[in-house]
Amino acid sequence: MYDTATRAPVNEQTKAAQQDAALNPRFYTTDFAEMDRLDVSRLRAQWDELVAEFRRDPNKDHFKRNADFDADFAGWDPKLREQFIDFLVSSVTAEFSGCILYAEIKKRVKNPDVRELFGLMSRDEGRHAGFMNHTLNDFNVAVDLSFLTKAKKYTYFQPKFIYYATYLSEKIGYARYITIYRNFEKQPDKRFHPIFKWFENWCNDEFRHGEAFAVLMRANPQFLEGKNRLWIRFFLLAVFATMYVRDHLRRPFFAQMGIDVDDFDRRVIKLTNEISRQVFPVTMDTDNPRFWELLQEMYENTIAIHAAEKAGGLGGTLKAKALMLANGFAFVKLFFMRPVEMALPADVRLQPVW
Ligand SMILES: [Fe+2]
Ligand SMILES: [Fe+2]
Repeated sequence: MYDTATRAPVNEQTKAAQQDAALNPRFYTTDFAEMDRLDVSRLRAQWDELVAEFRRDPNKDHFKRNADFDADFAGWDPKLREQFIDFLVSSVTAEFSGCILYAEIKKRVKNPDVRELFGLMSRDEGRHAGFMNHTLNDFNVAVDLSFLTKAKKYTYFQPKFIYYATYLSEKIGYARYITIYRNFEKQPDKRFHPIFKWFENWCNDEFRHGEAFAVLMRANPQFLEGKNRLWIRFFLLAVFATMYVRDHLRRPFFAQMGIDVDDFDRRVIKLTNEISRQVFPVTMDTDNPRFWELLQEMYENTIAIHAAEKAGGLGGTLKAKALMLANGFAFVKLFFMRPVEMALPADVRLQPVW
């Protein structure tokens, strides 16, 4: 595989980032003309306050490396190196996916409120992606972001699906970064790389991005009513199930961080679900043990799918197809579990207090 502009071969990490497997972060495009019709006047005061916070740019000087990064990582156990790189590649792809989607919205939308906000969010995500990629570069495996911009497939999503999905990925990103950060506060000897020290301020950026989508949706409540409530349930579940399965496939990496992946996913999913009540009138019942059993079933099916695909042949193919169907059923069962319905709180904004 070559970069068509330079004819230089791209590295394995760039190829991995380019893959659109079901569990990998994707790149998105949307209907920009429809986004022009967003109107924030209903929540003008909150909107202006939030945009002022973005303009102040509290993390302007945060993403600078210090001497800790000069450490020699060459002596690492090869397994840890591989797992850490895999974690960074999927994180940098997610950060960069936000960066280019937000930049594209800023470029293509005329609505001045939307333009300004998305320009500011793109600035943050570009910084995050660059900071992570710098760490990959220390291992000589940086992802070629300009190649990715051209070569990765873009998935079209209606604007409302972009709002649900990106709102959730911002808030779950916040919950993940803060939970990892707090873990290393408790057991600093497990912190095997300095980048984790940056996660505290970093997660505040993600929290703020989530707030922006919350205000945007609350100012345009048609996205939160009627049959959209079903779409909200669908997106909550899709985001939670993807994370649960993907993280459980990386259990050894979490163990290296001193984290039990089951405990981690429960905390992160519960926190994200709880936070999302600022904007979603309907959320998942994470207190129902069946919810966790079905997620676990999806993870175990996924392991069995990989094994069947590896075995190959007609038997393997049929078995894999049957298991995919079983995963579809598990998802449907999750979808039809009784959700939690709550009236939206009077205050739209939340503070990151976790
Ligand atoms: Fe980010
Ligand atoms: Fe973000």
